[in-house]
Amino acid sequence: MKTKAAVLWGLHQKWEVDEVDLDGPRENEVLVKLTASGLCHSDDHLITGDMPMQLPVVGGHEGAGVVVELGPGVTEVAEGDSVVLSFIPACGRCEPCARGLSNLCVLGAAIIAGPQLDGTFRFHAKGQGLGQMCVLGTFSEYTVVPMASVIKVDQDTALDTAALVGCGVTTGYGSMVRTGEAGDGDTVVVMGVGGIGINAVQGARIAGARVIVALDPIEYKRSRALEFGATHTAATVEEALSLVTDLTRGQLADVCVVSTDSAEGAYVAQALSLVGKRGRVVMTAIPHPTDTSVAMSLFDLTLYEKQVRGSLFGSSNPRRDIPRMLDLYRCGRLKLDELITREYALEEINEGYADMHAGINLRGLIRF
Ligand SMILES: NC(=O)c1ccc[n+]([C@@H]2O[C@H](COP(=O)([O-])OP(=O)(O)OC[C@H]3O[C@@H](n4cnc5c(N)ncnc54)[C@H](O)[C@@H]3O)[C@@H](O)[C@H]2O)c1
Ligand SMILES: [Zn+2]
Ligand SMILES: [Zn+2]
Repeated sequence: MKTKAAVLWGLHQKWEVDEVDLDGPRENEVLVKLTASGLCHSDDHLITGDMPMQLPVVGGHEGAGVVVELGPGVTEVAEGDSVVLSFIPACGRCEPCARGLSNLCVLGAAIIAGPQLDGTFRFHAKGQGLGQMCVLGTFSEYTVVPMASVIKVDQDTALDTAALVGCGVTTGYGSMVRTGEAGDGDTVVVMGVGGIGINAVQGARIAGARVIVALDPIEYKRSRALEFGATHTAATVEEALSLVTDLTRGQLADVCVVSTDSAEGAYVAQALSLVGKRGRVVMTAIPHPTDTSVAMSLFDLTLYEKQVRGSLFGSSNPRRDIPRMLDLYRCGRLKLDELITREYALEEINEGYADMHAGINLRGLIRF
């Protein structure tokens, strides 16, 4: 079939929206008609090369839609089912999945590989196979995805806001609550309040944190953070340090989630300076792949038991936690509608990313 998709053909280029060819679903795959796709910063890392992926690629990994065709062997979903696509495929059978760490499923190796899990391409254009970001490729009206990425949700789920649960919401919430283990009465800092960080703020609020400092140089992000549960805001690390010092009588924060546009080695030391004894620094932002040096106080690590923890998909289990996020939304505890600052047609995708860089969106959303 033909479908309209946004394709990245080379580094430092713009998304090209064009009609491309899409094969039908193979064994254990389904064809999904997308309702919406969020504009996560990670797709922008494909352009800069911070996310080193074989190009060309159909971008997008934060989507939801409706199943329209089943490949051979699919029994878990039917045509017409509402689904959220998880940016991490989870097989449910490998060692990490069996340990309850399905965000670290062995299939995760495929998310920046390009082709589908069986090594072949579903999308084609100009005589070439096109890869799929996170084996999804949600910047397309239709996509073919493996069942490992498909999370069936209630039929009445609003599939525009649910798209954001496929990455940003679950990653941000989980970074704070699961990786960071934020709890009742805690003091936390969120460094970088974009589509991911704003959900770390919500996670902290839901977990019962006492002090939630939203740290971002952009005024718009700081003021929006207050609507999502931040108790204080700071424009600089120095301001945040002075706040957490005063508010904790010098004990400092329990958790600092780093969800900046990209991770820099220097941010690790800054975040460590904000947390106290047994404090957790959660690294969620994607780093430059060649960055290997971090300067930090080893004295603090040992004598204060400060910890640095990496976080992929907020240490969440897609099959359990995606429906849980939607349940929290349904009972009014998690805000989703308010996350969408602006909607775009697929053809306006480059404008959407320009707005993300300009810092005027919490989350931009493509509606098909
Ligand atoms: N680990 C994962 O599983 C995972 C999943 C999704 C996204 N990510 C990554 O998370 C990061 C954030 O993504 P996003 O979509 O929220 O991006 P975004 O562009 O929406 O937000 C980034 C925010 O960081 C702020 N910022 C930049 N430098 C800062 C600094 N020095 N101090 C404080 N704030 C600063 C910006 O003003 C902006 O508000 C990206 O690197 C993205 O690739 C990781
Ligand atoms: Zn993402
Ligand atoms: Zn697995």
